[in-house]
Amino acid sequence: MHDDAQESGVRADANGCASGLSGGAGKLFAGALAGAAVAVLVACASTVTAPVPAGAWIAADAQPPHPANNPPTPMKIELGRRLFYDGDLSWDGTMSCATCHEQKRGFTDPNKTRPGFDGQPGERNIQTLANVGWFRSLTWGGPQVDTLEHQALIPIEGFVPVEMGFGGRPEGLLAQRLKDQACYPELFAAAFPERGGKIDMDTITLALSAFQRALVSLDAPYDRWRRGDEAAISDQAKRGAELFESKQCATCHAGPHFTDSALPGRKAMESFHRLAWPKEEGADTGLARITQKEDDIGKFRTPGLRNVALSAPYMHDGEATTLADAIRHHYADARAGDARLTLSVGDNDVADLVAFLETLTDHGFITAARFSRPAAACPVNADADAAAADANNQRQHNSIGGP
Ligand code: HEC
Ligand code: HEC
Repeated sequence: MHDDAQESGVRADANGCASGLSGGAGKLFAGALAGAAVAVLVACASTVTAPVPAGAWIAADAQPPHPANNPPTPMKIELGRRLFYDGDLSWDGTMSCATCHEQKRGFTDPNKTRPGFDGQPGERNIQTLANVGWFRSLTWGGPQVDTLEHQALIPIEGFVPVEMGFGGRPEGLLAQRLKDQACYPELFAAAFPERGGKIDMDTITLALSAFQRALVSLDAPYDRWRRGDEAAISDQAKRGAELFESKQCATCHAGPHFTDSALPGRKAMESFHRLAWPKEEGADTGLARITQKEDDIGKFRTPGLRNVALSAPYMHDGEATTLADAIRHHYADARAGDARLTLSVGDNDVADLVAFLETLTDHGFITAARFSRPAAACPVNADADAAAADANNQRQHNSIGGP
């Protein structure tokens, strides 16, 4: 991931200072530079250590807001976790949410796109679920998808594309399938006493959403640096963190969740941006699919960047294979129309930015037993089960239906 200096012929000396004509960058940024001959790189890696930025940083145990009708309880989160990992949520039993959203990859998968249960091709790259409880609009192009409860119905019942395949099937089939099992009636009763333990699409999506709101990732090395631990990240990553501000990445990838979609008070529509116009006829038009407005063609919601080093490939279509590619992609189309995307970002900057992005990998998050595939046993007491889960982490595989 750090080999871009070689690619473009930039030489780095022993102190990490680079100089030279960046032919490669000249090509890559040809649009952004609008005719400028070649970019001259005289970026000398500073040996001055960037201080921890001033001001309080979000707490590691912060919790996202939740709708009034869905307060999180340990039993509900535990039920949601089981549903998330259960293949019974797909028509033919082969696909759970976790098939596409794998914990060890920050709840994404390694494919560009992924086919649904019956092999129908996927359309977009799978998104991470870290801190998704804070996002104001969900999916790459859906300003109208404003709650997790609403979003969860899309993979289960959606047609474009077909993912889990319950769309168009007789109503109540999924609920009946869960009612027929020994464990679920007990779990729904414990999770939804106020609804008499009812099993229907409402309670299924409420529980899935409570689990997803618990997917909080706020204890990466970068967070520890922001909380004052000078040694938590490398000097290169600190330079990257500064560039992330000075190159205005942080205006779109804003705040502790690294997306303007999670900024308090921000309207959903304001977190969609065009980095490039679609390259070919018939390509995904993003926001314009919903709004039908020409100016929205090619606009996508700013993705969060938590655990981004684990979630390759990148962008809505999975076109970028490395983080460096993903960064360069921002500057590849001079006609995108956003002044921030005409800034010059050289190869050394890209390497520093990648080092910074790698500090957003939260090891505790991707290994936490409470987010992993649950044990076979039917938990009647979520608190006890959560404690046991951490001890049982190694024995928990392949125990409930589906992948
Ligand atoms: C076949 C693969 C697949 C399955 C199965 C799947 N997802 Fe997804 N998920 C995706 C893709 C692809 C996207 C991006 C969709 C888009 O932008 O149109 C996504 C997006 C999301 C998002 C939005 C994240 C964001 O940053 O806005 C959430 C939340 C989500 N999925 C939850 C779930 C839940 C809950 C389930 C199970 C009920 C599930 N997914 C099953 C592929 C899948
Ligand atoms: C104008 C808003 C904007 C700015 C400025 C911006 N980004 Fe992005 N970024 C986006 C959007 C929108 C996407 C998704 C675009 C797509 O899929 O077509 C994205 C995607 C990414 C991705 C891929 C994430 C994934 O999960 O696929 C990375 C990494 C990234 N940006 C890093 C950066 C860095 C580093 C900078 C600064 C050098 C930056 N961005 C500046 C809006 C922005």
